[in-house]
Amino acid sequence: MTTTEHQPITSKEIGGIGHSVRRVEDDRFIEGAGNYVGDVNLPGMLHMAILRSPLAHAKILSIDSTAATDHPGVVAVITGADLEGFNLAWMPTLSGDTQAVLATDKVRFQGQEVAAVIAEDPYIAEDALSLIAVDYEELPVITNPEQAMAEGAPVIRDDKEGQTDNSVYHWEAGDKDLTDRAFADADVVVTLETHYPRSHPAPLETCGVVADINPATGQATIHLTSQAPHAHRTLFALVAGLPEHKIRIISPDLGGGFGNKVPIYPAYVIAVAASLVIGKPVKFIESRTENLISTGFARDYYMKGELAVSSEGRILGMRATMVSDQGAFFADAQPTKLRAGLFHICTGSYDFQAAHVVTDGAYTNKAPGGVAYRCSFRITEASYLIERLVENAAYELDMDPAEFRMKNFIKPDQFPYHSATGFVYDSGDYHTALQKALDAVDYENFRKEQAEARKEGRYIGIGISSFTEAVGAGPSRDYDIVGLKMIDSAELRVHPTGKAILKLGVKSQGQGHETTFAQIVANELGIPVTDIAVVEGDTDNTPYGLGTYGSRSTPVAGAATAVIARKLREKARKLAAHLLEASEDDLEWEPGKFFVKGAPDRSVTIQDIAFAAYTNFPEGMEAGLEGVHYYDPPNLTYPFGSYVVIVEVDPETGVWKVDRMVAVDDCGVRINPMIVDGQITGGLTEGFAAASMQWMTFDDDGNCMNSNMMDYLIPTAWETPRFELHSTVTPSPHHPIGAKGVGESATVGSPAAYVNAVIDALRPFGTTNIDMPVLPHRVWAAIQEAQSE
Ligand code: CDP
Repeated sequence: MTTTEHQPITSKEIGGIGHSVRRVEDDRFIEGAGNYVGDVNLPGMLHMAILRSPLAHAKILSIDSTAATDHPGVVAVITGADLEGFNLAWMPTLSGDTQAVLATDKVRFQGQEVAAVIAEDPYIAEDALSLIAVDYEELPVITNPEQAMAEGAPVIRDDKEGQTDNSVYHWEAGDKDLTDRAFADADVVVTLETHYPRSHPAPLETCGVVADINPATGQATIHLTSQAPHAHRTLFALVAGLPEHKIRIISPDLGGGFGNKVPIYPAYVIAVAASLVIGKPVKFIESRTENLISTGFARDYYMKGELAVSSEGRILGMRATMVSDQGAFFADAQPTKLRAGLFHICTGSYDFQAAHVVTDGAYTNKAPGGVAYRCSFRITEASYLIERLVENAAYELDMDPAEFRMKNFIKPDQFPYHSATGFVYDSGDYHTALQKALDAVDYENFRKEQAEARKEGRYIGIGISSFTEAVGAGPSRDYDIVGLKMIDSAELRVHPTGKAILKLGVKSQGQGHETTFAQIVANELGIPVTDIAVVEGDTDNTPYGLGTYGSRSTPVAGAATAVIARKLREKARKLAAHLLEASEDDLEWEPGKFFVKGAPDRSVTIQDIAFAAYTNFPEGMEAGLEGVHYYDPPNLTYPFGSYVVIVEVDPETGVWKVDRMVAVDDCGVRINPMIVDGQITGGLTEGFAAASMQWMTFDDDGNCMNSNMMDYLIPTAWETPRFELHSTVTPSPHHPIGAKGVGESATVGSPAAYVNAVIDALRPFGTTNIDMPVLPHRVWAAIQEAQSE
């Protein structure tokens, strides 16, 4: 059932679900009183700097670190050869590949870690890097999958036994025969070849570590910029051979992550090894350039999509082939079974049963990554492909793109919907969302204005993107990362005075968990949000979980929170029956208290009950009011929405400007509408960046051209359009509170709307594609090309 808003069941004072409670974490962030890894300074702490390869592909002939070692203030210089002695020169990646910690044989991308200096202060460490002499023999460089897959291409991963080419994986989904038949029946086949460029999450805070291994006790305390502290602890135990119970990962405040803080980076392993050997804490904080050139990038998918369509405008089938540029090591953080993440959700919001998706990955001489940058494992690329294809299909058939979508959307009564490539969409109402967006821009009238404007030589265009996301991995039967099942957990303790503490396995990077998860507890137990503390990011003090990425916190940890709160409420009912000397069945609950049916005066508050749990519990009952729940979701949740963008293109320069951007989002029940709007605004800004200005490029020698923020652009308030936010509410049927994730939808769904709008504006020229980012010179070139034909 879709509604436009969700009515809170709790009062404003309690502040449960549906209230725009002010973010409790913001006081310390705004006052500059946050505590980040960079703020951690321990007695006797040493500092690490990393020497990185200037070349994208080269043999290492020799490394001479004598001068650096002799430099005053330098404590140690570490090379790959040193790490080999500890079996730590290579480490496993989250995709089951191997990655060099410090290069021993070859360097495989510009920025790769070659040696590390440990010194008394960070400046000495940095200075000493220039004293290390590395003799390289240059090798041919591969910067795209086409070169990588070409006959006779140099094998980048010659370290891997049996690897004779640059193929990383081959993976397929869907039904080839059924799809071939659909294409044979098609009246029209629409084709689109496009590249979703490489981008970088570029969080405000770069990655860092303070590794502190106590030589006396063997206790390893690792302060880490980590979106997944528990998984990282397990991986440290496996990689470094440290006993897991002696590893404590502390992920303090994070200044953004967006997927960038999911992988384990070589620097973390080197710092731990250095602290272990030297016996002192070792700190490493990346520079901006190091972050951009060597840590987890995103996207870089070369896609070809085909839609088989009937002359009446029905989609009959889809083919998608995709080759992904994985860089030198396959280090995507994604479910083990799914080599191309959830790219096979590329059938989008449309009802057809014939689809075949073929995916390949290629090694290149670029940084590894492929992280879920505000994206649930490659859905951004999938969503972009289908929304661009659908737009082109409508034009090819001379149909209105909005009407074409409405005709092909999955209908509300078809949910749960089994998609052609194996997803079970839990709920949706795509027609209502798109209609709401169209109404907001007065679509019909706009088309008339557009026709008039064209007569005057003005090129205005409207673009639509209707996306479906799949967020909240598990379920564990299908989803694991390096074998760790994708569950999550919540531990809730109500103290005698009725104040509570909630501990979670996920980790906020700024999304407001301290506020919203307290709201879930407030909703379930009626304890005011101000009386609930939320703790995350310390593996010694929180229950196990797989972490925060792919908008999984709300669907998984949020569900765990609701379930454990409900369990405590059941125990509270027993305590209330004892206190009121009534039968449990005679009690009614309203947020914050139990009362006897028909006698509302006979009541006890949750605070009274909490006190009784420690002071006056019935005989035979275990004392206390606390518990932990591990939640294994039965399915993903499927947020959706429709975005409509209006642009005007100047054909003389190719410059395009956004006149309006309307966003209709549906993330199910909104826990905190203000935070949801904030998430969407941030996501839309990143979607606009992808469409208009942001990409990572490399020259033919593999030099990264975007190693700083003058060259890798982050939109400011100056260029970001004003977003008009609307919503519908279609609760997830299986989630305990009906919530779906929202952290990434806007980044996933919105880029296609901008590109579709520019393409729409250029219809008079017959332009059918411009790759992202839609830079003015590309628009201008497309117009010139069209005019010369
Ligand atoms: O996993 P991550 O926290 O990045 O993403 P999320 O689960 O989509 O949540 C992002 C923020 O939005 C959190 O503070 C959520 O609690 C909040 N949210 C909400 O208030 N209502 C929803 N239906 C979904 C998320």
